[in-house]
Amino acid sequence: MEVDVMSNISITTVDKSKIDSFDFENVKFGAKFTDHMLVCEYKNNAWQQMEIKPYSAIELDPSARVFHYGQAIFEGMKAYKDDNDDVWLFRPDQNFERFNKSAVRLAMPEIDEERFIGGLKALIDLERAWVRKGQGNSLYIRPFMIATESGVIASPSNEFLFCILLSPAKSYYSGKIKVQIAEHFSRAANGGIGAAKAAGNYSAQFYPTKLAQEAGFNQVIWTDSATHTKLEEAGTMNVFFRIKDTLYTAPTSERILDGVTRKSLIELAKSEGYQVEVRPVLVEEITKAAADGTLKEIFGAGTAAVINQIEGFSYKEQYYQLPELKDEECFALDLKNKLTRIQNKLANDPFEWTVKI
Ligand code: COI
Repeated sequence: MEVDVMSNISITTVDKSKIDSFDFENVKFGAKFTDHMLVCEYKNNAWQQMEIKPYSAIELDPSARVFHYGQAIFEGMKAYKDDNDDVWLFRPDQNFERFNKSAVRLAMPEIDEERFIGGLKALIDLERAWVRKGQGNSLYIRPFMIATESGVIASPSNEFLFCILLSPAKSYYSGKIKVQIAEHFSRAANGGIGAAKAAGNYSAQFYPTKLAQEAGFNQVIWTDSATHTKLEEAGTMNVFFRIKDTLYTAPTSERILDGVTRKSLIELAKSEGYQVEVRPVLVEEITKAAADGTLKEIFGAGTAAVINQIEGFSYKEQYYQLPELKDEECFALDLKNKLTRIQNKLANDPFEWTVKI
C-alpha cells in the first residue's frame, strides 16, 4: 500500500487492483466500482483535506441527518479514453456548476473547483486503466454529498461528506423503452427541488415508476404538477419529441433538471441543421400527433442513458406505438452517434466540450 501526501490530497492505494476480475464485456450500469474513491469532509465551516483511498464502506452515526431528512445531492458525469490513451471529461464545468446550485438549494456548503474538478482529475488519473476505449465505453462518475452530522433535529447539518465513486459503464438501458405519461403523480412542483440533482427527487419517483413497471412500462414521463398537461422530463433523462422534422423539448424550469446532455444535444442538433424548438410541449399535441402519424420519435437524453429511444407511450389507458423508422431516418440515432463520437474523441469537438485529464 502506497501513501502519498500532496499538499491538498492524501492518497492511499490498494495492494492489489481488482481490475483483472472485472468483466468489461458484461457491464451492468452502476453495479461495480473501481479500486479507489475520493472523500472530503466538511466541518468547522470548512472543507478539509481530500483523501483518495481504497473503495470501502462509510461509517456514519445512525442519527446522521442524511438518513432522516434526505439532505443529499449528486452528479452524473463520464470520462472517456481516446486512441492515444488520453482520458477526457465531458463538460465537467457544467456538473461542477450544477452541483453547487443543488448544494445551495439543499442548504449544503458549496465546494471549490480544486476539490470537485481537481480531486476528480486526481482520482481518475489513478484509475486510468478502468477507462476503456471505443464508442459507447466510458467511466461513469458519481460525485455526491451527504449530511453527516448526528442528531435527529430537523435542521440543516453542519457537517458533510463529499465523495466521488467511479464505475465502468456502457449503456443504461439495453434497448428501446416504453413510457407512461403521468396523470396523477408528480416528480416536482414549483418552488420545490426539481431543478436540483437531489436524492429525494429520485426516491419520490420510485413508487409511481414501480406502478408503471408493473403495468409493463420502463419509466414515467412527468407532467407539470399543477395541470398535468405539459410534458416535462423522464425519471433519469430529459425528453425530446420529434413531430414531422422538428425536435421539441421543454424549457428548463424550477421543476426540470438542466441536463448537460440535453443542452449539448440542443446545440449539436442546431449546428447539424436540425430544427429544434425549446418550448412547453403539451400532452395533447403529442397524443394528437401520434394519432395523425406526425409524431415520429421520442427519446430521452441523460448522462447515464446518453440517448434512449422510446418506442411508445401510454396515456389515459391508451397505448400509442411510434412508427418503426429505418436507422438512417432516426434523428435520435444520428445525434447519439455524433455526440458519442465527440465524447469518445472519435470526431472533432468544435464546441470544446471535452477536457483532457
Ligand atoms: C445520470 O444520467 O447521470 C443520472 O444521474 C441519472 C441517474 C439516476 C442514473
